[in-house]
Amino acid sequence: MRIESQAFLNAAAQARTVRSHVIVLANEKGGSGKTTTAMHVITALLKAGQRVAAIDIDSRQKSLTRYILNRKSWAKKTGVRLELPDHYVVDRANTRSVDENEAAEFAGFATAIMAIEKNHDFVVIDTPASDSYLMRLAHSMADTLITPLNDSYIDFDVFASVDPESYEVTGTSHYSEMVREARRQRRLVADSDTDWVVMRNRLGQLETRNGRNIAEGLAELSRRMSFRQSDGLSERVVYREMFPRGLTVLDALNERTLGVKPTPSHHAACEEVQRFFGALRLPIDERGKRRAAARAEWFRCSRRPLENSSELMGE
Ligand SMILES: Nc1ncnc2c1ncn2[C@@H]1O[C@H](COP(=O)(O)OP(=O)(O)OP(=O)(O)O)[C@@H](O)[C@H]1O
Ligand SMILES: [Mg+2]
Repeated sequence: MRIESQAFLNAAAQARTVRSHVIVLANEKGGSGKTTTAMHVITALLKAGQRVAAIDIDSRQKSLTRYILNRKSWAKKTGVRLELPDHYVVDRANTRSVDENEAAEFAGFATAIMAIEKNHDFVVIDTPASDSYLMRLAHSMADTLITPLNDSYIDFDVFASVDPESYEVTGTSHYSEMVREARRQRRLVADSDTDWVVMRNRLGQLETRNGRNIAEGLAELSRRMSFRQSDGLSERVVYREMFPRGLTVLDALNERTLGVKPTPSHHAACEEVQRFFGALRLPIDERGKRRAAARAEWFRCSRRPLENSSELMGE
């Protein structure tokens, strides 16, 4: 089922019946920060009182799935309350027939979407770093597409080619062309555009010539391909340490939650993730904010001694 085909269009239209806001984390380049960013976006949404479903279509690595399982285990072990999304994994089919594989993958995807529909405000989809049918389908469904990008020309190469002397952009590459096509398909199917946000990841503390050249190249490319650039994330060890405990820098930065004393880097990371999240301009509704405030209040009060609980009842 090619992306240009009527069958693909039908599949995408069927998948589009989901009423939640779909956020897709994608970049054909491996190791750019898709899963790390997905987990932070999921946590930020849950903390904002949104009903969130996560879908892992990187069924080979299943890093997001393991991240979420680690979070569940850490919460149980420490007794710390950690928000969790409803989680789904869509497996890749492995028969000899391409058509059969795509039909099976679509069925898996549709099952997840049907389970999610109506009950979630947001669906966050983490994708693999390879061009596949599911990955293209996810792109064509994205209301918001987030592409983390490392500050390196090897990573930039999936977006655009550059002149070896001037570093000026000379043409677009396969990944940005694929996104352009998926957005075109989406406009046909859903009559709305994808908000494509490119986020520079693992930024160095010092501004370098390489960083400046990449920033200029991205600015040029954002005009050609019509994407937005958001505030980036710095290279920080704290992001790499979080996975085994399923934590994010948005969780309570105290020793009980982290298992270690928080450092200034945790706080700086939290601020930069909040800036990045704000720049996404997601449709977080007032009802969700009220839910988050009520939940926070409930947890605040539930830690009080029992005799104070009458205050809660308005007595
Ligand atoms: N801002 C950051 N600072 C430091 N390390 C980071 C940062 N972002 C991601 N990493 C680390 O980079 C590696 C790749 O990140 P991640 O697994 O999130 O990327 P990915 O795009 O999902 O990879 P894949 O393509 O393999 O699915 C991981 O070791 C992660 O901990
Ligand atoms: Mg990943």
